[in-house]
Amino acid sequence: MSASETTGRDADGDGLRGRVVLVTGSGNGLGAWIARASARRQARVVVNCRRDERRAGTLGAELQRTGGEALVCRADVTVFGEAQALVEEVLKAFGRIDVLVNTVGVFAWKPVAELEPAEWRSMMASNLDSVYNMSRLVIPHMRRNHFGRIVNLGAVGAERTVGHPKVSAYSAAKAAVIAFSKALALEEARCGITVNVVSPGVLVDGEESAHALDHTADRIPVGRPGAPEDVVRAVLFFCSPAADFLTGQVMSVAGGWRL
Ligand SMILES: NC(=O)c1ccc[n+]([C@@H]2O[C@H](COP(=O)([O-])OP(=O)(O)OC[C@H]3O[C@@H](n4cnc5c(N)ncnc54)[C@H](OP(=O)(O)O)[C@@H]3O)[C@@H](O)[C@H]2O)c1
Repeated sequence: MSASETTGRDADGDGLRGRVVLVTGSGNGLGAWIARASARRQARVVVNCRRDERRAGTLGAELQRTGGEALVCRADVTVFGEAQALVEEVLKAFGRIDVLVNTVGVFAWKPVAELEPAEWRSMMASNLDSVYNMSRLVIPHMRRNHFGRIVNLGAVGAERTVGHPKVSAYSAAKAAVIAFSKALALEEARCGITVNVVSPGVLVDGEESAHALDHTADRIPVGRPGAPEDVVRAVLFFCSPAADFLTGQVMSVAGGWRL
């Protein structure tokens, strides 16, 4: 890598050209959108899935067709040993990890009175353990390069520990992700590593009916629900040279919802 790339100040503006971008949970959903946007900027992208290797493989092939380099790795990132194998595979293929975007984080509706211990554990593992596992494993490599960008996916309102009925485990885990991210940002601030959180609100992916869209839009101050591209732009911003001085920050991408 050239000196300009090491500082993230290369010509593509987003600073992603040639960077190795690992996006957990990127076989579909927001992770796939982030993977596509990174590949379009000539990043070397790691697509990670837990089960659906065929879908992830299709995305990997698509990214390569758009000119990016892509590696598809199956690993359940809630399991430390599997996360470790994933990181080793990426280092073997690309030799470095510059950007980690932690998107894994399942959501479920259930009141506490009906929430089984296994369901609680699974929600915490998906939303929180995954972030610890991956951060713990990539930080030593980012430190060596004195460069790293970690972006974690939160949820709107989590920074204010807003409570929502039937979403106790998810809300608790996302609030913890924010506390974790701020602590890590402080620990790594002198190591060239920034850690930030993007918190989406209501998102639609274009498949909803016009009626559902109108109903959703009514609740959002800016008059429209969010789209995956809104979240992608925020994630890319935190990875860009323009955000060099931002760490430990939480950006709500929610059109003013739940301010
Ligand atoms: N979408 C929204 O409206 C919204 C709103 C607020 C916040 N968020 C947050 O944004 C993030 C992304 O949400 P999303 O809705 O796009 O996610 P999603 O559609 O549920 O993402 C699913 C992807 O994650 C993978 N995955 C799940 N568990 C995994 C694990 N343990 N290890 C590796 N991969 C795993 C799945 O792989 P397999 O299919 O192969 O298992 C799949 O590729 C989450 O953290 C979520 O909480 C989303």
